[in-house]
Amino acid sequence: MSIQPHKSRTIISIVLLCLIPFFTANAAKVKIGILLPYTGTYAKLGTHIRDALMLRIEQNKNTLGGREVEYISVDSEMNVPKSTSRINKLVKKDKVDFLVGPVHSGIGINMARLVKKSGTITIVPNAGANQITGTHCAPNIFRTSFTSWQLAYPMGGVMRKAGHKRVVMMYWNYTFGRQTKAAFAESFSASNEEVIDIPTPFPKAEFQSYFTKIATLHPDAVFAFYSGGGAVQFVKDYAASGLKDAIPLYSTFLTEGTAKAQGSAADGIVSILHYSRDLDNEANQRLKRTFKAKTGEDVDIFAVQGYDTGSLLVQAMDAVAGDTFHKKALIQAMESVVIDSPRGPFTFSKAHNPIQTIYLRQTTKGENKIIGVAAKNVEDPATGCQM
Ligand code: BEZ
Repeated sequence: MSIQPHKSRTIISIVLLCLIPFFTANAAKVKIGILLPYTGTYAKLGTHIRDALMLRIEQNKNTLGGREVEYISVDSEMNVPKSTSRINKLVKKDKVDFLVGPVHSGIGINMARLVKKSGTITIVPNAGANQITGTHCAPNIFRTSFTSWQLAYPMGGVMRKAGHKRVVMMYWNYTFGRQTKAAFAESFSASNEEVIDIPTPFPKAEFQSYFTKIATLHPDAVFAFYSGGGAVQFVKDYAASGLKDAIPLYSTFLTEGTAKAQGSAADGIVSILHYSRDLDNEANQRLKRTFKAKTGEDVDIFAVQGYDTGSLLVQAMDAVAGDTFHKKALIQAMESVVIDSPRGPFTFSKAHNPIQTIYLRQTTKGENKIIGVAAKNVEDPATGCQM
């Protein structure tokens, strides 16, 4: 049977039409949409994530899988209601290949909900809300940071073993703070220990009246979550209130990237985190050197998470030779990556969250020095995740 010339021309045209999206998707610049805070109490967190992400891609000649990179970066202002239109613009109008963000858990949950529908490949470089890789998990959602549970649950055991029986938990009253309290209370209260709950409004940094209350409660210790600008104020005010010498202060994030600004008020604070600047590995030395040279700033966990987001993109896009059209293959490449992180090498769990070691640190003269390992190779339980 022979195909008539006009029919064969039609077939060729159809095949060419089908190939257009493949060629346009894989020849153009790779578009990365970034939604991070550049103003407000989390401004430094967002800036460090963005700068370290761009640094990692710069170290790869500003390319991903051989393609040039274009960034579309938006200030989240930590504004949850406005995040819907900002995410929709990046996804639907700008048609980004990858979406990176946010810092704030409330925005993170919204982002997960929206990109689960759109299918946009999304990398969360900070927001810790459990449900991002839990009930909202999806093949196209990855996280290079941590979950609320991963940090707070081990801290419960640490403080119980330290002999504390009554602990005040102070935190900003939004998703991440509330989940931190819940996971901490679950593990701390195993033998009837008491957690006294003191939530404070986000992003306010007025703590005096709460410290007066703590002085009258006289707990064995305080466990606090604050970050960025609010954390600097908290630590200075805690010392000024006279509580520092009377009631030991434990924390998550409180002294990260802020210890120098907090000065001697931060000395002695014990913190739990998946990184310390004094980790002795090559990736950490390299980032400390190159980040300082690029930005004039010291590395913190936020820079590390941005850098690792860059590594995930570099390695996965190399593996698929820059092909963003075949998403399934790209997602598989992302799932198989081993990140040579400044926090130590890590892989992703089935729910796309880092499996990582959680450290105990103590602040001395502006540095968070490792004093122990709180838990090794911690994998978030990813409650409710169905993929
Ligand atoms: C969060 O909202 O998930 C978050 C913000 C700052 C530091 C850590 C967690």
